Amino acid sequence: MFFSFEGIDGSGKSTQARLLADALRARGFEVVDVREPGGTVLGEQIRELLLDPESQISPRAELLLFSAARAQLVEAVVRPALNRGAVVIADRFYDSSTAYQGSGRGLAEAGWMKTLHRFATAGRSPSRTYLVDVSPEEAARRRSERPHDRIEQSDRDFYSRVRAGYRGLSRSEADRILVLDGTLSKEDIGARVLDDALALIRAT
Ligand code: ADP
Ligand code: TYD
Repeated sequence: MFFSFEGIDGSGKSTQARLLADALRARGFEVVDVREPGGTVLGEQIRELLLDPESQISPRAELLLFSAARAQLVEAVVRPALNRGAVVIADRFYDSSTAYQGSGRGLAEAGWMKTLHRFATAGRSPSRTYLVDVSPEEAARRRSERPHDRIEQSDRDFYSRVRAGYRGLSRSEADRILVLDGTLSKEDIGARVLDDALALIRAT
């Protein structure tokens, strides 16, 4: 079973990914948690390049670097884990590229982006994606405490486009993407996610 978590920076998605991983482990499941970009040696090297505020990266190069990190992660970690029956929980997956590079940077038309994702992931797709939705203002407040990487230095308009991209995606893929109100408490969101995840696991 493959779950992913999405949302703008500071939405609370990593908190939810951790809560779900803990809850499923406590119930005896083998859980493999991964983050994007990263999760492999190559992926962590690409992550450094992508998030370094000193890096000069064009939008197209940015999209391809995220895709390269994802391809490596799927091949080395996600595919083997799914094949042996583990639960995989990804803190971001290809919807991040659609929202950030596609909508945020205004890069690519949706059909082409889907083909790229299919290629990079060899067709592996999350069974369920949890989209933690908060306003750019609330997300900025939540991340104000931590140092900002290259992408987090983007302005409010960029994050508004990313959020709109995510919401558009959730409408076009309503069967896979579950939108959660990120202004609820961590516990309330976590309970909703766990209910849904357990129901999905039981159904398969
Ligand atoms: P993200 O992975 O989306 O960047 P995090 O999970 O790291 O977000 O959370 C960002 C900050 O917001 C953290 O300080 C976290 O404790 C806080 N936070 C997470 N979820 C909530 C919530 N539901 N309500 C209020 N604050 C939250
Ligand atoms: P990360 O540390 O995962 O973000 P968070 O602050 O949410 O914990 O950093 C990843 C950054 O890269 C984040 O700003 C989102 C961005 N990103 C993209 O622009 N495209 C992508 O495909 C992915 C996976 C991430």
